[in-house]
Amino acid sequence: MISNHHSFAYSHDLAWVIMSLFIFAGALIRQFFVLIHSGNIKPAYPVAGVVLIALAFWIGSPASSSALNRDSADDGPGLEEVHAIVVTRCVACHASQPTQPGFSAPPAGVVYENPEQVVRQRARIQQVVASGYMPLGNMTGMTDEERAVIAAWGE
Ligand code: HEC
Repeated sequence: MISNHHSFAYSHDLAWVIMSLFIFAGALIRQFFVLIHSGNIKPAYPVAGVVLIALAFWIGSPASSSALNRDSADDGPGLEEVHAIVVTRCVACHASQPTQPGFSAPPAGVVYENPEQVVRQRARIQQVVASGYMPLGNMTGMTDEERAVIAAWGE
């Protein structure tokens, strides 16, 4: 059963489109076999079916769904963008197992491993990034553009 393996087929905003494509693709491929039994080989049917299945996967893929859902309320930076910056510039130190040499535990107990932790600590992150206090000694090379993105987040 398709739905058990591909959660996007029912949890996605466009679930009805995706399911329709699967159903229609199935009908085309079935028609191909029906015609084969009457000695009539028409490869266009399964080819069209495969194209529809590919389209269903494309619509359901995380990249296109996040593009559809991205920041519909405003044009400011979204959590995805902010989290990517935090992962690049902060998580070397602020992880339960820091990779930055010399750190054996997250400094000040601050951990940013998942987006929820980043959201919860938004005010604190914006404060230490705006003041230049973090990243410590700018050891991870945070750019001014990235500081601006953090500052504009959630406005
Ligand atoms: C090179 C390692 C390193 C990096 C990278 C780093 N930090 Fe820190 N961070 C520290 C250390 C060390 C402390 C503890 C400093 C102190 O106690 O004065 C700290 C403390 C903090 C604190 C607590 C400050 C307080 O006063 O309680 C916050 C919040 C913080 N960091 C956020 C960030 C953010 C956000 C980033 C990324 C933009 C970041 N850090 C990147 C090493 C780092």
